[in-house]
Amino acid sequence: MAEEIEGIQQKHRIIGRADELAAALACVRLNRNLLIEGPVGVGKTVLALAVARHLNRPFFRVDGDESYSEQKLVGWFDPPIVLAKGYSQSSFIPGPLTQAMLESGILFINELNRMPESVQNVLLPGLDERLLFVPKYGEIAARDGFTVIATQNPREFVATSHLSEALRDRFELILLEYQSYDEEVEIVRLNVPETLHAHDDLIRTAVTVVRATRETPQIRRGASVRAAISMVELAAQFQGSDAIRRAARIALPTRVDLADDVNKSAYQIIDDIVDAAKKKAS
Ligand SMILES: Nc1ncnc2c1ncn2[C@@H]1O[C@H](COP(=O)(O)OP(=O)(O)O)[C@@H](O)[C@H]1O
Ligand SMILES: [Mg+2]
Repeated sequence: MAEEIEGIQQKHRIIGRADELAAALACVRLNRNLLIEGPVGVGKTVLALAVARHLNRPFFRVDGDESYSEQKLVGWFDPPIVLAKGYSQSSFIPGPLTQAMLESGILFINELNRMPESVQNVLLPGLDERLLFVPKYGEIAARDGFTVIATQNPREFVATSHLSEALRDRFELILLEYQSYDEEVEIVRLNVPETLHAHDDLIRTAVTVVRATRETPQIRRGASVRAAISMVELAAQFQGSDAIRRAARIALPTRVDLADDVNKSAYQIIDDIVDAAKKKAS
């Protein structure tokens, strides 16, 4: 197992996460549906994709949004073919759920909780009895190997519908937390252009800054490593000693939520965090 995990980390450029990768592999090998949950930018999508691709099964990806429909997920009848031949299996265009069920595939649903409830409901029988009923087509039975891997943000961060208890009950859960300082430094290095790899101070300061946003009482929801990646790339565009501060003022406001009772502006809070991080670095 350890060698296999190292192989995935190298091939799919994943820093750390050995335990989570092993857990995910174990679930999917048992054909259990897997839900990966954690705050924005924690690495849910990269982890899910790495596991799905590693298993070499047919793979279908769906990205959740509020306007996604049941029909898109299941499939639909093609009107011109229906006119010519009537309703039949040959006039049905299968959606990703149907395809994954018929081809022993993995259905990867990114941000499942952003899907409307009607879409979540259509998944239930597929996950549970491994059956799907399509009007005018008939019953579709999943072949062995059909598995769903889904990601979602935890409840407190989303305004959209939360998964029903029934649906949650069909998933095994892996909770992702933020990685260590050293791992986050490596993630940033991996994700910025090579010309910036030597800017060690800049990378470390950016990681220190985003980690501080998660600990500052004035911030309710802190930033992820994605913000650190942006900060490094932006700061490299600016000259002078305030390059990081300028980068932080652009990269952070969209990615943090202030606490309710703060009487400082977002810029003031960000500037304080950057100043403290620079002091720590020097
Ligand atoms: N363990 C990791 N190894 C390598 N890159 C990572 C890791 N975790 C996160 N990243 C990078 O951080 C960014 C956010 O990750 P992503 O999977 O999109 O987060 P999420 O889906 O949780 O919002 C991406 O650029 C991704 O490549
Ligand atoms: Mg994602």
